[in-house]
Amino acid sequence: MQTVATQGKLTATLIDEFRRIVGEQFVLLDKDSLIRFGHDETEHLSFPPEVVLRPRTAEEVSAVMKICNEHLIPVTPRGAGTGLSGGALPHLGGVLISTDRMNSILSIDERNLQVITEPGVITEVLQNAVKEKGLFYPPDPSSRGSCFIGGNIAENSGGPKAVKYGVVKDYVLNLEIVLPNGEIIWTGANVLKNSTGYNLTQLVVGSEGTLGIVTKIVLKLIPLPKYDLLMLVPFNSLEKAGEAVSAIFRAGFVPSALELVEVDALQIVSRFVDSSAVPITNDVAAHLIIEVDGNHLDTLMMEMEAISSLLTQFEAGEVYFADDAQQKAELWKLRRRVAEAVKVDGYTVEEDTVVPRAELPALVRGVKELGRQYDFKAVCYGHAGDGNLHIRIKKEGIANSNDDPGLIAGIKALFRLVHQLGGTISGEHGIGLLQKSYIDIVFDEQQLELMRGIKKTFDPNNILNAGKIFDL
Ligand code: LAC
Ligand code: ZN
Repeated sequence: MQTVATQGKLTATLIDEFRRIVGEQFVLLDKDSLIRFGHDETEHLSFPPEVVLRPRTAEEVSAVMKICNEHLIPVTPRGAGTGLSGGALPHLGGVLISTDRMNSILSIDERNLQVITEPGVITEVLQNAVKEKGLFYPPDPSSRGSCFIGGNIAENSGGPKAVKYGVVKDYVLNLEIVLPNGEIIWTGANVLKNSTGYNLTQLVVGSEGTLGIVTKIVLKLIPLPKYDLLMLVPFNSLEKAGEAVSAIFRAGFVPSALELVEVDALQIVSRFVDSSAVPITNDVAAHLIIEVDGNHLDTLMMEMEAISSLLTQFEAGEVYFADDAQQKAELWKLRRRVAEAVKVDGYTVEEDTVVPRAELPALVRGVKELGRQYDFKAVCYGHAGDGNLHIRIKKEGIANSNDDPGLIAGIKALFRLVHQLGGTISGEHGIGLLQKSYIDIVFDEQQLELMRGIKKTFDPNNILNAGKIFDL
């Protein structure tokens, strides 16, 4: 199947036009920049673009898109490059549009609890800005200290808080986007409810930069909860930890985070960040990190005690409470840096499986079996409360998943298991470039044809992030 029907050539004249539009110094052609913008956090893949553009405004993006559409030049939009499915990789060369200069928070509307921001704002910067006003933007990917809010929209990111507060899609009210033909539109309205026609806003959220380039974002905010409590609970079996997860909800609790970290991952990350904060004993197979939040400390303490006592039924070991802000920060640091640490340790392949929560024990059991069968090592961690398990895979001598037919077969078997369990192949990282060859495990031809139709409607020339999610 062809990814791009026609691919235009980037000429010196077109580069000059780009210089006139975005400014000379924001057109990058040097080798270092092309290499830097040619990779993200996905395995060790590298696809340098032919040119990098760093526009400042939607109007500049629009003018660039008009030229690229006319000349059939492939365009790849990019946020901070923290993605794990290769969504921002310019695998067809062409133009890379970096949103890094579109980095202003435009307004915080305290009357309506909304924020309007540009896409190149770092997620944590946005969170801190609204926090100063007593407001809360919960979606918090592990990379929140470096990822951009625009990339979060593209991938419909989640993070630990999603289990109580939902993912990015639950906060996006309205988007300004530049369409592939260069037109600038708003997708909806700045309102909390909207039954007015098709929901273009939600169509763009999670569309991985294939339908338009997001240039302004209107997000819903909520009041900031006053307190949170955090504990780490050890289990001597990964499956038991998985079983405990759904029991917590069935018992009536809704933690603000419920994360699972297999012990190998915790050991690797503890070494990586040089931390001895968490006591790890030999009999431990996995930990749950459990957080509750709210406005009444007494209630939260009672909840934590009740959850701990429930967990004794699952043979939980001695609970470690993070007592103060510093201990909490240390524990979260360990959790947030797992992906980075295990990658350095050789677990370069990351899968982002998600199953109905109660199927987690079956999933972790299956992962280990498949590892034996297909000769790979797997370490599990992630957002257990959402049934969203990140599975990091290591196979000696293999850096990229598509380098090895045996590993591809193993990943296919894993995804078939996930599908059988009622789950799907990405919970929050997207399909991008890397997972598209597996998408037919979860979607049939009819479903894919509908998606291709949407892509064609937005981008008839297939110039915007072409060949991501699926081939046309
Ligand atoms: C995490 C990222 C990899 O949960 O999604 O750490
Ligand atoms: Zn995650």
